[in-house]
Amino acid sequence: MSIFRTKSVEQSMEDTEAPEHQLRRHLSALDLTVFGIGVIVGTGIFVLTGQVARDNSGPAVALSFVVAGVVCGLAALCYAEFASTVPAAGSAYTFSFATFGEFPAWIVGWDLMLELALGAAVVAVGWSGYFSELLATMGVNLPPAFAGENATFNVPAVVVVLALTAVLVAGIKLSARVNLVVVAIKVAVVLLVIIAGLFFVRAANYVPFIPPAKATATVEGVQAPLIQVLFGVSPVAYGVFGVFVGAAIVFFAFIGFDVVATAAEETRRPQRDLPIGIIASLAVCTILYVAVSLVVVGMQRYDQLGRSAPLANAFRAVGQNWLASIISVGALAGLTTVVMILMLGQSRVFFAMSRDNLLPARLATVHPRFGTPYVITIIIGVVTALMAGFIPLSALAELVNIGTLFAFILVSVGVLILRRTRPDLPRSFRTPWVPVVPILAALASLYLMLNLPVETWLRFLIWMAIGVAVYFAYGVRHSRMRESEPTVTTG
Ligand code: ALA
Repeated sequence: MSIFRTKSVEQSMEDTEAPEHQLRRHLSALDLTVFGIGVIVGTGIFVLTGQVARDNSGPAVALSFVVAGVVCGLAALCYAEFASTVPAAGSAYTFSFATFGEFPAWIVGWDLMLELALGAAVVAVGWSGYFSELLATMGVNLPPAFAGENATFNVPAVVVVLALTAVLVAGIKLSARVNLVVVAIKVAVVLLVIIAGLFFVRAANYVPFIPPAKATATVEGVQAPLIQVLFGVSPVAYGVFGVFVGAAIVFFAFIGFDVVATAAEETRRPQRDLPIGIIASLAVCTILYVAVSLVVVGMQRYDQLGRSAPLANAFRAVGQNWLASIISVGALAGLTTVVMILMLGQSRVFFAMSRDNLLPARLATVHPRFGTPYVITIIIGVVTALMAGFIPLSALAELVNIGTLFAFILVSVGVLILRRTRPDLPRSFRTPWVPVVPILAALASLYLMLNLPVETWLRFLIWMAIGVAVYFAYGVRHSRMRESEPTVTTG
């Protein structure tokens, strides 16, 4: 069936050479690592740590970070192989096109909108929350209808998204520079939390490290984790279950290492540098996260941690107001690049999809002077701004997780398939212990997905059903693969 026609790796690479679609190759391995850290460190560590410790894991939130980090590590090894083999923009979308075929690739592309555009909007709303809190400490109170997490029209979120869109249009080099400065600030703040926080750690706060399991309002009804419902367990928070449910939520904190792969066509030596960028950024962030979470739950009892700004709050609780303010500024700066790079990733995925005519081809036009896919970048900026402006999104972070985990599964299985169908391709990075690592990566991602709430699954299924409808209404008739003879076919 032609909807499962694959696009050969050679053809994907050829497409990157077409003059009208050429991006500028400016990025090095270090730039990519910094990009990775720029997009990874954000809401997850600055916000979710407190929430997950309170509601799901207790002080064992640090273990939740370890579990999520291990799952991501397995997936990162698979992404690294793919990115070194098919270094074209589009990441999981492009990889799926090379292995599963056009329709599954579309499904992944559609799914990635949950990770990238929705993720950007969710973080922008969080940014607005931090922003209004910071202004409030300076005596400026923004009206809650126009700023913060529950605004009717979220002005700061809209402004920040549009400003970052302008930076993205102006060029990958500028984006990389802005990112470098912000990452330096953000990492310094995270290290400050770890080092300064150590002085305020009290051993008593670690007891009990894994609080006993109990039924709570946070895991009732459609908010119950799917796995507990499937196995007929009455839903509980805390305990060992709680560590895994917590892992499925703090997974959000790791999202982004895979976005590095979307910058493949802007990388000078992609075969070598993409694996470095993906793995190094994830490794650095995992170490930082485990250290931060251990320190924070040591500073303040888990049931007293703040919900919206737990890191800053923990310092306030021990009387260090000035440190708390520095942390808030760092978090605000940090969230900015998360929004920016998630939108960058989204534009590169759509760029690849429109180059294949699954979206209108005009969208993939590259700006003659800036060398960026400006049409698609502007559209994404406006849509993200509208979402962040009008929808109270903080509840949707878990939808971002499920979308990302789904892509991880396809990429991991894809590594196995491509090893079989194209053993001849040069792979400058090879996933170790194939097939064990890809199989574990897929199973571990599925397991985390099952730990997400029932309502997240329902939203996910509805979103994917819309994607199927859009494909059959548009993509299937316009696809470029339909016009040209395929080089490789399956199915
Ligand atoms: N990993 C990113 C964050 O924590 C999405 O904000």
